[in-house]
Amino acid sequence: MIVRPRRLRQTPALRNLVAETRLSADMFIYPVFIREGRGIVEDIPSLPGQKRYSPDTFPLVLEEMARCGVRAVLLFGLPERKDETGTGAWDENGVIQQALRVGKKTFPEITFIGDVCMCEYTSHGHCGILHGHEVDNDETLEYLTRIAVSQAAAGADVVAPSDMMDGHVAALRAGLDAAGMKDKIVFSYAVKYASAFYGPFRDAAGSAPAFGDRRGYQMDPRNAREGLKEARLDIEEGADMIMVKPGLLYMDVLRAVKEISSVPVGSYCVSGEYAMIKAAAAKGWLDEPRAVAEAAYSLARAGADVIVTYSALDLARWLKEGRVAF
Ligand code: PBG
Repeated sequence: MIVRPRRLRQTPALRNLVAETRLSADMFIYPVFIREGRGIVEDIPSLPGQKRYSPDTFPLVLEEMARCGVRAVLLFGLPERKDETGTGAWDENGVIQQALRVGKKTFPEITFIGDVCMCEYTSHGHCGILHGHEVDNDETLEYLTRIAVSQAAAGADVVAPSDMMDGHVAALRAGLDAAGMKDKIVFSYAVKYASAFYGPFRDAAGSAPAFGDRRGYQMDPRNAREGLKEARLDIEEGADMIMVKPGLLYMDVLRAVKEISSVPVGSYCVSGEYAMIKAAAAKGWLDEPRAVAEAAYSLARAGADVIVTYSALDLARWLKEGRVAF
């Protein structure tokens, strides 16, 4: 035998030397839930280890992010009141807008990303404006634009539309530019599937649809080529970055999108994927740090430039401490 692959696997130093994929806290985005109120830091039962904050306590988590070296945060809002048209989403004093102002003031060096969608703010829980039981695409675009502009005005550096309406990137870009915010970044959830793995998130954000489901706008899990169509469209419309979601279950799509994308590609390891690892770890069936690290390395190996994960802070810490050596 001349070729012996095991030669390069003999020591940790050798394995690290030739590792094909590297992870760094710089590429993580940490999702955080903000709810109306004061002095609130509360556990989220469906997402063990994650908490909801009120705008005034939000800096606590930013401080922890800074300690771990995670420098980007993705915000989801739980408004006090919901209505048919999701007014709370673009209210100048909405929960996200308050959090953005506080956050930007206390930690200006962090990148603030606003999730742009309506489902957390509408009484019916759908991601847009309803006509009967159908979401009206083009009318919804006007509302999404208002949300993006108001988040950007409150301090968001990046707006991330997760609604899956057609033409959303072009609408947001035009709205931001018209409002004089040409440097605000659009990070589109370009390829987002109608997934059962959003379950824990919908509990956490109180955003489950009151009737029906999201299959009229989110993608069919059986389709991969359609993901390329969605990705190309959003890039043509001016998306600065795009995302494939969920993460672990859609690595084939992630890889295919990466191959055609001229912009950075993110992957979102969603709530259900997080919950699976957490639940198995709680039973003692998995070593959580190793499983989380393996999942993140796999996303990076499949092509993720950026990883959105509820494990961002833990993983950043574990990487720093050498807890997840291979
Ligand atoms: C809003 C939104 C959802 C998620 C991110 N943005 C829920 C949904 O589409 O139902 C899910 C994130 C997760 O499960 O971690 N539309």
